Amino acid sequence: MTHSLKLSLQASAVLLASVFTTACNRPDDPGIEYAPEMYESIPYDPLRQVNANGVNPMGINERTPVVGTVPRGKANYYNHIGKEDVATAEKVLRNPFAYSKENLEEGKALYLRNCQHCHGEQGDGQGEVGKKFKGVPNYSAGAYKTMNDGHIYHVIQWGKGRMMPHGSQVNPEERWKIAMYVRALQLGKGPDGVTDLLASRGASTAGVAVADSSQTRDQQQAPVQEAQANKASETPGQGGDKARNGTAN
Ligand code: HEC
Repeated sequence: MTHSLKLSLQASAVLLASVFTTACNRPDDPGIEYAPEMYESIPYDPLRQVNANGVNPMGINERTPVVGTVPRGKANYYNHIGKEDVATAEKVLRNPFAYSKENLEEGKALYLRNCQHCHGEQGDGQGEVGKKFKGVPNYSAGAYKTMNDGHIYHVIQWGKGRMMPHGSQVNPEERWKIAMYVRALQLGKGPDGVTDLLASRGASTAGVAVADSSQTRDQQQAPVQEAQANKASETPGQGGDKARNGTAN
């Protein structure tokens, strides 16, 4: 090894050591970034951003989601209505599922599994457990007759009075379908109420979705345009007022 090579090796070792020590001395110093383009994306990334975005308002990559957007798998996310506030639930929550024969049949199966032992097959509160538990209401009597889907949904999720919450037993989709079936029981004809309910809502009893299925949905009251989650999307192509995406559930 020549003398000059030795010298230059020594010099570079000293230089490297000083680079390392300066980096190590300051814990907040990230050191030299080698080819940052490898990890700082040049295209716009939704979840990571280094420079201001020159196109979007506020300079951020991520845009605010369309009003009423419900992230995939987050249908359960609804905390804008207090647990005790059935009255608001009744006003703002709308069943996003069509009143079809299949949905009602599914609702019935779920009802028989989760509610019938208290509320009875007929919905009269005379289930085997209900008889002993006492105070289980008859869906087709008094004020219970007019509970809408949002009301029933809320009660399933949070419980009410002596009824325990059932939100952990049935997911949001199942809750809406059970609520739909309870609407049939409200007619006081037990499971036969399904036929009447389908007829009154103009749904095809053959279970084929009708042309404008929004007609068969729970729309006895217009939703109150306050709670974000129940607002219809105004995005073109999503059906404007009739769009059901975003109904809180
Ligand atoms: C352990 C028995 C039991 C089970 C199981 C049960 N409930 Fe109830 N439910 C009750 C009782 C008791 C009440 C009356 C609560 C009160 O007013 O104190 C009630 C009340 C209700 C009400 C009326 C709420 C109101 O606004 O007054 C609805 C709707 C309801 N239940 C739906 C369901 C549905 C749907 C299921 C199945 C997912 C279910 N319940 C499961 C016992 C039960």
